[in-house]
Amino acid sequence: MTVSWISWPTLFHICILLCANGVVPKQFQLEPLNSTVLQGTDALFRATVDGNWSAITWTVGQNLVYVVTHTTVNETKGQYSSRFCSRGDTSCVEFIIHNVSRSQSGPVICYVLGEYGSKTAHLYVQENGTVSIMGGDVTVTQDQQVEFECVTTTWFPAPTVSWKRNGQVVNSSLYNTTIMMDGDSFNSTSVLKFQAVSNTTVECQATVTALLDPQSSSVFLVVVPKPPDWTVLIAVVVSFGAFALLVLLIIGIIFCYKRRKEKQPSYQDEMRRVRTQSQISGANTAGQSQGQVNRGYVPEGRTSWISTSVTPSELTDNGDSGYKIPDVVKSNQTGNAYNTVDDSGFKKHRHVTIV
Ligand SMILES: *[C@@H]1O[C@H](CO)[C@@H](O)[C@H](O)[C@H]1NC(C)=O
Ligand SMILES: *[C@@H]1O[C@H](CO)[C@@H](O)[C@H](O)[C@H]1NC(C)=O
Ligand SMILES: *[C@@H]1O[C@H](CO)[C@@H](O)[C@H](O)[C@H]1NC(C)=O
Ligand SMILES: *[C@@H]1O[C@H](CO)[C@@H](O)[C@H](O)[C@H]1NC(C)=O
Ligand SMILES: *[C@@H]1O[C@H](CO)[C@@H](O)[C@H](O)[C@H]1NC(C)=O
Repeated sequence: MTVSWISWPTLFHICILLCANGVVPKQFQLEPLNSTVLQGTDALFRATVDGNWSAITWTVGQNLVYVVTHTTVNETKGQYSSRFCSRGDTSCVEFIIHNVSRSQSGPVICYVLGEYGSKTAHLYVQENGTVSIMGGDVTVTQDQQVEFECVTTTWFPAPTVSWKRNGQVVNSSLYNTTIMMDGDSFNSTSVLKFQAVSNTTVECQATVTALLDPQSSSVFLVVVPKPPDWTVLIAVVVSFGAFALLVLLIIGIIFCYKRRKEKQPSYQDEMRRVRTQSQISGANTAGQSQGQVNRGYVPEGRTSWISTSVTPSELTDNGDSGYKIPDVVKSNQTGNAYNTVDDSGFKKHRHVTIV
């Protein structure tokens, strides 16, 4: 309440002074006080006046370009025009700059005649230029490092450049943007680098504050699978082949060794038996006590074990699961046949040629 005691007399004093002189400060509002628009679009300012006004002037840059009176409202003068904010409400007036240009950037002064004074707004005109990813679509092999270059020209101010991959914003650590002044506008070059993993839509966006939607350029990155590494493949094939050969060689050696060990003694045994038999039936050998090695001998188990003097057609099945050789002694006087009984118990005819 202490404040009231002090303030009330003060307010009363001010009121007496103002009322006596008839000076009530007249008010008006100008909005917006800052307007950022794109070159070629419209800029609009609104003056809202308390009470009656006779004229409102508009100065763009250094030039008084438009005077609004109750009779000139709604008129178009060059690239400027005015209108009431709403029909029938004369307290609010709109001033429009059509097809605004960069040169019109700067203060916009509104002056309301009749004790209202002036207010100043600021017009900022921006310019949107071009955006383009150089080189178009790219085809690379998987895991290859790819580089995209996005060039923007004739922007004002310098645009904010960003990248997207498949619609996802790219971390700014993956690209570098260099800005170049070109007269009264800016060019820029942004380089994006990353490792190609899969097919990707790469988009470069450039924007300034007055642009509602960024301007963009897109290309497609086609990733083809890595070709197989032939050196590795060849190395694998060669080593496997060598290994297989080695194994075959070892198996072969073992097989041959085993056969030799098995067959050599059996042949000698046979020779010994033959010799023994030939001594027993010495009459037939006619003094020849020594049997000789049969050069035509073929180890058992081979189909050609029958000597050349017997053809397969001469063989007859004796029904004893063995073959009986025709009596060679009778048909061939130069040779002698001996009957032997082998381990399996089958009676077989052996043909030994004595020279
Ligand atoms: C806009 O202004 C520019 C010059 O600033 C002019 O070349 C162009 O023709 C104008 N466009 C329209 C639609 O008036
Ligand atoms: C961008 O990458 C850096 C390191 O590469 C990381 O520290 C940072 O968190 C990332 N930012 C975003 C938004 O992912
Ligand atoms: C950006 O430039 C800096 C310095 O020139 C460099 O270290 C960095 O690797 C560059 N990054 C890209 C993605 O080019
Ligand atoms: C900016 O881009 C334009 C159009 O491509 C080109 O003519 C000009 O030389 C560039 N300026 C600079 C400084 O790079
Ligand atoms: C990428 O797209 C191409 C055709 O556009 C297709 O042949 C290829 O298989 C795709 N690659 C992957 C990794 O999806």
